[in-house]
Amino acid sequence: MTETLLFATNNLHKLREVQEIVGDLFKVLSLKDISMTDDIPETSDTLEGNARQKAGYIFEKTGMDCFADDTGLFIDALDGRPGVYSARYAGEGCSFEDNINKVLLEMKHSENRKASFRCVVCLILGGQEHFFEGRIDGTILKEKRGAEGFGYDPVFIPNGQSQTFSEMPPYLKNGLSHRGRAIWKLMKFLSIEIG
Ligand code: IMP
Repeated sequence: MTETLLFATNNLHKLREVQEIVGDLFKVLSLKDISMTDDIPETSDTLEGNARQKAGYIFEKTGMDCFADDTGLFIDALDGRPGVYSARYAGEGCSFEDNINKVLLEMKHSENRKASFRCVVCLILGGQEHFFEGRIDGTILKEKRGAEGFGYDPVFIPNGQSQTFSEMPPYLKNGLSHRGRAIWKLMKFLSIEIG
């Protein structure tokens, strides 16, 4: 029987990626699947704090084991920005495009293009919190390339690659990405915990 895992998200991009990463091992449910429409608070200034807040909120409301992720893009030349504020970097209600444009403008005169995506997953299993992290280093391009993925994918090239995350087929992004790495650790933990 396929086990189910509740992912405390309504971000369909993340949901699709995580389902692809875990394959047939788990059926990943989103908040929509359990008819949860609350706006989940995300007010911490760390990835770990936000992941804990999202998973904790859903666990308290539903009593269900669940996990949440929080991700940020940390750019050297911008002193680590947008970091934990990656989602609304260009302001409340902004689009992925707005965020990328703001980053590219701020980096207009920067030769240092180094950046990393970092992802923290918080799993709540039987009321206990467990954390898993994934990181991928790379560089920020001067213009967007590609049509896949989401967020800052069109301007991020992982080290050792020639394509942006947006130019890669999803399996390639998931095989390299911050989220892929964090979710593999989660899977390894679950395979030990629940067999
Ligand atoms: P969240 O707070 O974890 O939902 O994510 C913050 C923001 O980071 C998202 O709104 C995206 O703009 C960006 N982001 C998260 N994951 C990725 C990714 O895998 N690729 C590109 N951008 C991402």
